Amino acid sequence: MRSPKIKDLLKTSPTGQTVTVQGWVRTFRNNQFISLNDGSTINNLQAVVELGKFEDALLKRITTGACISATGELIPSPAKGQTVEIKVNSLEILGDSDAEVYPLQPKKHSLEFLREIAHLRVRTNTFGAVFRVRHAMAFAVHKFFNDRGFFYIHTPIITGSDAEGAGDMFRVTTLDMNKPPRTEDGHINYKEDFFGREANLTVSGQLEGETFAMSLGEIYTFGPTFRAENSNTSRHLAEFWMIEPEMAFYDIQDNMQLAEDFIKYLCQYALDNCQEDLDFLDKRAKEEEAAKPQDQRSELGLIDRLKFVCENDFQRLSYTEAIEILKNSAPNKKKKFQFVVEEWGTDLQSEHERFLVEKHFKKPVILYNYPAAIKSFYMRQNEDGKTVAAMDVLFPGIGEIIGGSQREERYENILKRVRELNIAEETVWWYLELRKFGSAPHSGFGLGFERLIQFVTGMTNIRDVIAYPRYPGSAEF
Ligand code: 4AD
Ligand code: MG
Repeated sequence: MRSPKIKDLLKTSPTGQTVTVQGWVRTFRNNQFISLNDGSTINNLQAVVELGKFEDALLKRITTGACISATGELIPSPAKGQTVEIKVNSLEILGDSDAEVYPLQPKKHSLEFLREIAHLRVRTNTFGAVFRVRHAMAFAVHKFFNDRGFFYIHTPIITGSDAEGAGDMFRVTTLDMNKPPRTEDGHINYKEDFFGREANLTVSGQLEGETFAMSLGEIYTFGPTFRAENSNTSRHLAEFWMIEPEMAFYDIQDNMQLAEDFIKYLCQYALDNCQEDLDFLDKRAKEEEAAKPQDQRSELGLIDRLKFVCENDFQRLSYTEAIEILKNSAPNKKKKFQFVVEEWGTDLQSEHERFLVEKHFKKPVILYNYPAAIKSFYMRQNEDGKTVAAMDVLFPGIGEIIGGSQREERYENILKRVRELNIAEETVWWYLELRKFGSAPHSGFGLGFERLIQFVTGMTNIRDVIAYPRYPGSAEF
């Protein structure tokens, strides 16, 4: 028997109607007041058991974490902060939870501790809120693109090409690694492997996405991507979700505009649809901030940051302009940066990106026209012979949230680049053919979904916005 959701019951006008609710006990006070949560909302429903009405043995089983089904009348609540409560007539324990050993006590636990019990942490207010918001954002991604006529393409997860040319991929094989078949010169013979070749988990769906943009016009992917980079930071995962739109006939300017519209849409969607969870997360982030030294606190609260993004244009500037600003900045001159910016051509570190966003412009920044040498092979070469039409969107507290570019659509140009970088042509022949048959100017970008969720929820560690984080040394659950 299915019962109504607590979210809906809390909005109902109570007329004494009999309802059954099912959920998990958050707290049980004075042998009378059960706070019940079913995950549909951050708010609990109070279920009141009359003193003396139930056996002690039953009441003892109403513990934090237990799952119960309660039937009773929905009545106006005299308690503060809630309009309805349920007066319990009958009560069933669906699943006991031994309070002595249940790891989640009704008190504050550290996020580090909760990561160790990721199978239970979603029962806390914080993680319930984060994952409801994450759902809303995934839905909004599809709504944004569907409303604009983009088609959702499922690009492969196992692939034979290295989309970013960075080489940090997880191998997929069924060979016995203790005694792999060898070629005559002693190398592992992947011809005998499952796919008859080397295969990896994808780092990006972009290359396959481009093939679809060259027929369907405007497409997007939204799927898991994998990076075997040894990055132990609060912004990197080995498995993360990425949204990658790819559009025929867009130049870099159109691409930047779409990226800005997209993020603004998502932030506005959260403000419009996740109010209760955001209120909770805003408060939670403020408490966390209060523990930090003054100069590390952000000026705006979570909700104000979301509003700020929706209401203000992103600052656009070229890599060359950014380098000038950084070279002349106080932290650079005082050698406060760990990596001092000296010359044009160096890659920007996250400290530099954060300076531009958080200190200099105090708003989201889109950097474009990067040196070719620090960007991927597929980016469109500019007339100056040194830069490519790349763009990164940089966000406060996050750093790079989007990376993208106009793509090199000229066959000779891209072939030259592939050869310069020693990319195995036999793995990208099909990608190069796009430039031979009906090539078109086109652009696209990738939004790191977890980094977006970090921004929208105010969670400072990326491991706390994905159900089961994978990172170096950890694949528990
Ligand atoms: O800048 P990246 O590497 O770009 C690409 O993969 C392109 N193929 C995208 C495209 O043009 N279609 O990654 C894109 C975004 C980054 O801006 C960041 O938000 C996120 O993906 N990202 C990660 N998120 C979590 N953990 C990691 N290890 C990430 N690496 C990148
Ligand atoms: Mg990037």
